[in-house]
Amino acid sequence: MPAERLSVVVTRRLPENVETRLKELFNVQLREDDAPMSRDELISAMKQADVLVPTLTDTVDAGMLSQAGDQLRLIANYGAGVDHIDVQTARQRGILVSNTPGVLTEDTADMTLALVLAVTRRIPEGLACMQSGDWQGWSPTAFLGGRLAGRRLGILGMGRIGQAVARRAAAFGMQVHYHNRKRLHGDIEQDLEATYWESLDQMVARMDVISINCPHTPSTFHLMNARRLKLMKKNAVIVNTSRGEVIDENALTRMLRSGDIAGAGLDVFEHGTEINPRLRAQKNVVLLPHMGSATVEGRIEMGEKVIINIKTFADGHRPPDQVVPAML
Ligand code: DGY
Repeated sequence: MPAERLSVVVTRRLPENVETRLKELFNVQLREDDAPMSRDELISAMKQADVLVPTLTDTVDAGMLSQAGDQLRLIANYGAGVDHIDVQTARQRGILVSNTPGVLTEDTADMTLALVLAVTRRIPEGLACMQSGDWQGWSPTAFLGGRLAGRRLGILGMGRIGQAVARRAAAFGMQVHYHNRKRLHGDIEQDLEATYWESLDQMVARMDVISINCPHTPSTFHLMNARRLKLMKKNAVIVNTSRGEVIDENALTRMLRSGDIAGAGLDVFEHGTEINPRLRAQKNVVLLPHMGSATVEGRIEMGEKVIINIKTFADGHRPPDQVVPAML
């Protein structure tokens, strides 16, 4: 399929130079405003496009895929997570799915540590005090947080991002522990000075900080459910820069309110923008608007990956970042 004839529909505004390059290479339909497409708009895009470029704000389910035109052959997701796309059904219908792994690893790991620090060192409380003009000067007992050095960090999901978190945490003097579907190769484990826990329950019960870095799949949904959250130490904190669905958000809110867990730093939420008001009202939480990968560099590199995936496909090859159901 010659690249210049490929019809590509992009569902959200992308960085300007990414859009310019897409226009140079393909017959591309870009978004005028940045509102997510409605379900009907998405279906209509899937009826006309050879390639759809969605983002995590676009659900692409089996019902929608069944209405896609025969010409739709590639869903080149702008993002690493593909839990909003029914990859299995897409495959059954002969539609390839690709994503953008690797380019948001460092940024997401940075944000993970930023959240750990924000919660343990009470940075938002300090900021609020300064912004209100209430600061009365230094005090030996004000805004006391906890020291990171020596604390145990338990990373749930030791892929690229988990490992990047581990490296940063070690630099802060934390002891790194992890649970993963598969144990890391001995060399990598040694390099990261990371301790593997086969039992997630046992790890959770012994950590000072838990970081969620696994993708959201049917097997990780509510991995941190009420029972497991209750295993956490009372003075422990949890941070999540992956997907909200991995934590039972209502159970977490209850535990934060009752003081059964010390704090949480969340960049992602179980129900998207519908955040439990009780969670928002908690003092011991730091909530961010899903900005883990929000760097200029990262967003441009994500666009470059999308372009490489489409171009490679257009040249008759498998996109380098093809996602197959077995990977999920
Ligand atoms: C992704 O790419 O899946 C990230 O969550 C976006 O920040």
